[in-house]
Amino acid sequence: MKEFIAKFEQHYGRKPAAASQAPGRLEILGNHTDYNEGFVLSCAVEQTTKFALYPVEGTRCRLIDFRSGAAMSFDLAEKEAAPAKDGSKYVKGMVLQLMQRGMSCTGFDAAIESSVPLSAGMSSSAALEVSAGLALMKVFNFNLSSADLARAGQGVENQYLGLKSGLLDQFSSIFGKKDSMILSDFRSVEVLRTAALPEGYSIVVINSMKKHNLVDSEYNVRRQDCEEAARIMSKLIPGAKTLRDISPEQLESARDQMDERVYRRALHVVGECARVMESIRLLEQQDVAGFGQLWFDSHQSSRENFENSTPELDYLVELARSIPGCLGARLSGGGFGGITIHLVKTADAELYAQRATAAYKARTGIEAQSIICAIGSGAELYHF
Ligand code: GLA
Repeated sequence: MKEFIAKFEQHYGRKPAAASQAPGRLEILGNHTDYNEGFVLSCAVEQTTKFALYPVEGTRCRLIDFRSGAAMSFDLAEKEAAPAKDGSKYVKGMVLQLMQRGMSCTGFDAAIESSVPLSAGMSSSAALEVSAGLALMKVFNFNLSSADLARAGQGVENQYLGLKSGLLDQFSSIFGKKDSMILSDFRSVEVLRTAALPEGYSIVVINSMKKHNLVDSEYNVRRQDCEEAARIMSKLIPGAKTLRDISPEQLESARDQMDERVYRRALHVVGECARVMESIRLLEQQDVAGFGQLWFDSHQSSRENFENSTPELDYLVELARSIPGCLGARLSGGGFGGITIHLVKTADAELYAQRATAAYKARTGIEAQSIICAIGSGAELYHF
């Protein structure tokens, strides 16, 4: 953080008035369950996005991204026809969300530095929204609860950018706990408990390098299908509101009441909710093999039922079955590209990552990025 602040000072000729950082996240199990008010096992990563700013008079906001070197700007008073194409859209979106909630704000000079891989499924956008949100609230003397800050970040995606995503990304970035996965309930919007990774195991992240752009993907269509399934189920099961309320058996018994595609989408979500709960039981019993198998099962369901995988992600998961040391692998995050996560013996992790990326290169010609991911802390303000 000190280095980042020094860079800020060098660039703008003054120290920032506030600085913050927020991590990316990994979805461990619980794919597309968040907007169905279901359960997710996730964690924050050590890769973070830092944000610092200094308020200035007027309505002009300047931003410098130290990773890309891009200088960006926007005007608070300007209503543009469409959000900017660059990363400033997440910051402007967050400012607008906070203003909608009552924050008054002037222009500012701000800087961003990030180590979260972009468009990979590790929530680089949520990390920027949350980080910016924390520092903006500090400077403009405004306060929201952590859950409401997560909702403001979701508002950027839902209202400003048109992606009907759930709360998982911002929530994990805020509530992540160092060295622990968190089990979250997206109906009550709270962390139910934490769970450590099995002793001696690490998460290897492999980026397929096929960017996932959820706004242009079928993400919103998947959500519609889930809502359609919930609507049908709510007529059959008294009190059921979302897919979170449906058991695998209930869904099975209503199979002929819905379109086959809608059934498969629902089967994925209902199955994922069950797998999240099962994972907690297996972790308690230290059944690492069983825990890893759930990752494979989750991926298979993504591929067959939710159809949010790609040939590249499938190949990375297939490799996990043949390279020694790995107990489970799956796509993580929205899908349609991005990363896979692999549960690997820590002692084998480096060699595993090398072998997997070499095999991937041989098959696809693509140089995949791999990270042996440590579980990081949730977002925080920097105290000068
Ligand atoms: C994206 C969305 C999240 C969540 C995941 C899938 O990351 O932003 O809200 O739906 O996909 O679980």
